[in-house]
Amino acid sequence: MNWKNAGENAFVGWFRALFTEALLSLVGLRYCFTLPFLFFELHRRWIYFFCSPWAISRRFLDQRGELDAQGYGETPLVTLGAVAERLQLSESDTVLELGCGTGRNCAWLSSRYGCKTLGVEQVPQYISIAEKLNARYFPQGQVTFCCEDMFSLDMSAQQIVYVDCTAMSEACIRQVAFLCAGMPNGAYLVAVNANMSELMPERFQTERVFPGLFIWGWSDVRIFSVGPPGVENADIDQANEALVL
Ligand SMILES: C[S@@+](CC[C@H](N)C(=O)[O-])C[C@H]1O[C@@H](n2cnc3c(N)ncnc32)[C@H](O)[C@@H]1O
Repeated sequence: MNWKNAGENAFVGWFRALFTEALLSLVGLRYCFTLPFLFFELHRRWIYFFCSPWAISRRFLDQRGELDAQGYGETPLVTLGAVAERLQLSESDTVLELGCGTGRNCAWLSSRYGCKTLGVEQVPQYISIAEKLNARYFPQGQVTFCCEDMFSLDMSAQQIVYVDCTAMSEACIRQVAFLCAGMPNGAYLVAVNANMSELMPERFQTERVFPGLFIWGWSDVRIFSVGPPGVENADIDQANEALVL
């Protein structure tokens, strides 16, 4: 289920969303392990208390004439943590987040698991705020943000990609599948509310599917390995070497 097919009364939905947001923020507190992330998060919430990210996204999409489009949503840390544990993220990893919103996921993954993160986002206001917070709380350069259309990216070197497709149209999800098909064999794609192996079975193999908690309820989180079906890791290494040569 997601907000597009929940079909509930808008007023009830607003209160339910507010209650769930408060609850998830409370639960999220136990994920604020490090002081830099705690300060980053408090500062981020303070800024967006005055200009809601939902409203910013709405304005951005209205200006582009996408009047019916849903643009924003956040992955709760409890769900992001479940993804990171399944991927066994470590300091040697680099994670690309497609549509990173306000940048909190990138900051958290980096501070919790020591990995490098790159967040790409189309809304300039999110990125300018994220960059300021990043420079202040994560000056070591582990976290990078970039204001760009995700579909202009070169994916050939990306080993781990996270994308929340909840607010995307079917056509847009298809485009994401095409984009991520350009990742190297053996890479991992994590997608919320999108079954990439159904769209491109020749390129994405489902590794894990599990329910992730979101503000609107539970949604399917899928981890795909990139590559043709039935290829073992040794073959993938050889195929990648052949590509490099
Ligand atoms: C549902 S939000 C997810 C935010 C964040 N990834 C999270 O899970 O908390 C989707 C984000 O993708 C961004 N987005 C959508 N299409 C995009 C595109 N073509 N290029 C870059 N960002 C895009 C939206 O602006 C929005 O911030």
